[in-house]
Amino acid sequence: MTRLYFNEVSTRDGFQIEPEFIPTDVKVELIDELSLCGYAKIEVTSFTSPKAIPMLRDAEIVMGRIRRVPGVEYTVLVPNLRGAERALESRADELNLVMSTSETHNLANLRMPREHSVAALTDVIRHVAGRTPINISLSTAFGCPMEGDVPQDTVLGYARRFAELGVRGLTICDTTGMANPAQVSRMTDALVKEFGGLQLTMHFHNTRGMGLANVLAALQGGIVRFDGSLGGLGGCPYAPGASGNISSEDAIHMLATMGYDTGMNLERLLAAARRMAGIVGHEVPGQVAKAGPSERLYPAPDYVADLRAQFAKAAS
Ligand code: COA
Ligand code: ZN
Repeated sequence: MTRLYFNEVSTRDGFQIEPEFIPTDVKVELIDELSLCGYAKIEVTSFTSPKAIPMLRDAEIVMGRIRRVPGVEYTVLVPNLRGAERALESRADELNLVMSTSETHNLANLRMPREHSVAALTDVIRHVAGRTPINISLSTAFGCPMEGDVPQDTVLGYARRFAELGVRGLTICDTTGMANPAQVSRMTDALVKEFGGLQLTMHFHNTRGMGLANVLAALQGGIVRFDGSLGGLGGCPYAPGASGNISSEDAIHMLATMGYDTGMNLERLLAAARRMAGIVGHEVPGQVAKAGPSERLYPAPDYVADLRAQFAKAAS
C-alpha cells in the first residue's frame, strides 16, 4: 500500500485571501487540532510583508503559540531574506520559498522580475545553509491567468537551478486551477525523471473542477506528496480569478477509499472541516464534510420493506 503525505495549507493559502482577518486565537486552535489529524506538514503562515498579506500579519505570534506535535513539520512561506530571518527566529521546521514561473505573476505577487527572485532566494538558501530544510514553491507552473501558457521547460529550468543549490523539495503549483490531467502527467513524468531524489509535492487549486483528477494523474506518475486546504479554502490575492485549493478532506477521503495509506485520521479531519464555515463566516466548497464519507448509510423509506415483502411473496 503506497504511503501518501499531506501538507495542510488552509491557514496560509486559505486565510491569506479571506476578506475578514481570522483572529490569532482561532488560527492557533485550528492548527493545534490539525496537528492531531495525521499530517506530515502544516503550512502555518507566511512571513511576507504585512502590507502585501495583512491577513497573516500575526505570523510570529501564531508560530510562538501553536503546540508542536512530534512527527509533524511546521513549514512557513517565505518570499525574501527578511522573511527567512523571521522564520528562523520562529523556529520553523522548513522554509517554503516562493517565486512564480510567469514573469507577470511574479511582478504582480512579489513585485520583482523572476531573475531578481532567483537571486534573492539564492541568497536565502546560502544564508540558511544546512540550518533548516528548504522547499521551493514554483507558482503558476501550469499556466498564468495574465500571461497564459507557461512552458514546461521554463518550469523545469527553475526547478533545476534550485535543485543545484541543494534544496530538499520542490512544490509545483497550479495557482489558479488551469492544469488538466494530461498536462499534469507530462509534468509529473519529467519531474520524477529528473528530480526523483527530491521531495516532490503537487499543489492544485480546484478553480475549474479538475483538482482531484489532477491529483490522480500525479499519483499515477509517482507523486506521493500533496498540498490541500481544509474545506477547499485558498487562493493568491495577486492572481486574478484565483479560488480554493483542492479540499484536503475530499482528496484524503478519495485516496483512502481507493486503498492508499494516507496516514490521516479521516473522522477527526472531517470534524475539523465542519468547523471551517463557522471560522471564515461563509460556506466552503469541500463536499465530503457535508455529504459524510461514502460508507455513510441512510435508512431506506418504509415502503421499501413493504415492496420487498410483496415481491418475495409473488416470487414464492
Ligand atoms: N516581512 C515583513 N516585512 C517585509 C518583508 C517580510 N518578509 N519584506 C519586506 N517587508 C517590508 C519592508 O520592510 C517594507 O516596509 P516599509 O514600507 O514599512 O518600509 C515593505 O515591506 C516593502 O518592502 P520592499 O522590500 O520594498 O518589498 P516590496 O514592496 O517590493 O514587496 C515582497 C516585496 C515580496 C516583500 C511583498 O510583495 C510580499 O510580501 N509578497 C508576498 C506575496 C504573497 O505571499 N502572495 C501569496 C502567496 S503566493
Ligand atoms: Zn495556492
